Amino acid sequence: MLDTPTIAKAEEATRVTSKTPNLAGPDKPVLLSVDDAKSMSLEKTTDLFKAHLNPGQYHFMKLLGFHKVKIETAEGMYYTDQDGRKILDFFGGFGSLAFGHNHPRILAARKKFQDENRHEIAMAFLSQYASTLAYDLAAISPGELNMVFLGSSGSEAMEAAIKVAEQAQGPQRSKVLYAENSFHGKTKGVLSLTDSPLYRSEFKLVNDTVKVPFGDIDAIRTALENDPAIGIVCLETIQGGGGIIQAPVEFWQQLRELCDEKGVLWIADEVQCGLGRSGRFYAFEHAGVVPDVTALAKSLGGGKCAMAAMITTTEIYMKAYGKPANAMIHAAATFGGIGEACVTSIEGLNVLYDEDLIGNAARTGDYMLQQLNALKEKYPKIIKDVRGQGLMIGLELQDFSQTLPFAVRTAVSVLDSKLKGSLSGFIGAALLRDHDVLVAFTEYNRNVLRLEPPLIASREHVDQFVDALDSVLDEGVVKIVTKFLKSQVG
Ligand SMILES: Cc1ncc(COP(=O)(O)O)c(C=O)c1O
Repeated sequence: MLDTPTIAKAEEATRVTSKTPNLAGPDKPVLLSVDDAKSMSLEKTTDLFKAHLNPGQYHFMKLLGFHKVKIETAEGMYYTDQDGRKILDFFGGFGSLAFGHNHPRILAARKKFQDENRHEIAMAFLSQYASTLAYDLAAISPGELNMVFLGSSGSEAMEAAIKVAEQAQGPQRSKVLYAENSFHGKTKGVLSLTDSPLYRSEFKLVNDTVKVPFGDIDAIRTALENDPAIGIVCLETIQGGGGIIQAPVEFWQQLRELCDEKGVLWIADEVQCGLGRSGRFYAFEHAGVVPDVTALAKSLGGGKCAMAAMITTTEIYMKAYGKPANAMIHAAATFGGIGEACVTSIEGLNVLYDEDLIGNAARTGDYMLQQLNALKEKYPKIIKDVRGQGLMIGLELQDFSQTLPFAVRTAVSVLDSKLKGSLSGFIGAALLRDHDVLVAFTEYNRNVLRLEPPLIASREHVDQFVDALDSVLDEGVVKIVTKFLKSQVG
């Protein structure tokens, strides 16, 4: 029940409104424009980031010196910052930049689409763009992987993967087996399959999961035999966030056999390692086996937009959502398969083959592994391991958490406890500061440099990166760390 003063206030509001209609609509707040964004200073960008985006994250950007850089443009393998400095990109947006920055064919396809006033959102109608992209993905995918769900992020594609598998298996077999050190996304469903105490925080997770060590076929067999409710196995083909970890080819072959024997569905998460990065379109193709469900995202957006796909067999799809009665249970979300994003992906997939980027990933990746292994020989006390396939390479550094001089160790831990043994942070900071090279780190193993350059990378780019790393390592660990400490005060 409304009280009398409230009713009186409402009546007054109606009276005033009807007497003095605001024909111009609500007053426009003080909004910044696109031009304001383009010309914004680094200081203002920082203020707004801290006030409205993620003040805590700024701490890490500052530690690494990334906070001093404002990127103005990007082309091919390079960013250009506010001072015209060109930065070689060996980070590659964690595998999102297979085509490099602003690939001319992808830009042209997008521009033409805009100039022709093509439609973006046509949820009520069939979309020729979504149909074409789905056809292309089915044509590329081996075996019976023919049915496609389009979304906007890797997490969304992985949610779709889990849902289609669960729906096909039924409630009695809905338990999901996943691996230690896995990363499948941060949305609430797949967070239950992402093995990170940090990301899991204290969120309530789905209980129906079982965790085993990555690449351990015996552990999977035992788990399946002990618990018939496990109907789904979900694994990254190459673990990215876990530190570029691979399982041997035989593991995947045994997994395929085991899943067939037990009637279990295998989901291969190819969000990071897929789309040619490993030297094959899908990393599982190296083992000559095909999963029941897979997922792509990142570079599927051509480096220009958000696009993701879940791909499964016709049999599984039809079982899950094949009838009118269940077709809408998990139909695409609002932006699943919107026009320009589809066109971007279609052009990207064509470029991938026309420019032999998959072959280049294999060849340039081999060369890079060779060069990095030579550096490992040169600096055995600093580099512990070099691993990976194609242009998905991890360089693991020795743990210096106990061996740095005491004073240096103490100074570092005052700055950030996570940096203690993490030489990768210091080296990454030095590469950017002194050599104009950008690299990434891995979420779970902070001693690993994650190297995922665009698939257009040439031997010359690899040489530029390896020379820069050589110069940094040549300074020795103590100097690398003390220079880092000085950069924090300077
Ligand atoms: C293997 C894997 N799966 C899923 C995801 C989630 O993708 P997104 O960040 O687009 O949600 C990622 C992201 O890094 C990933 O590497």
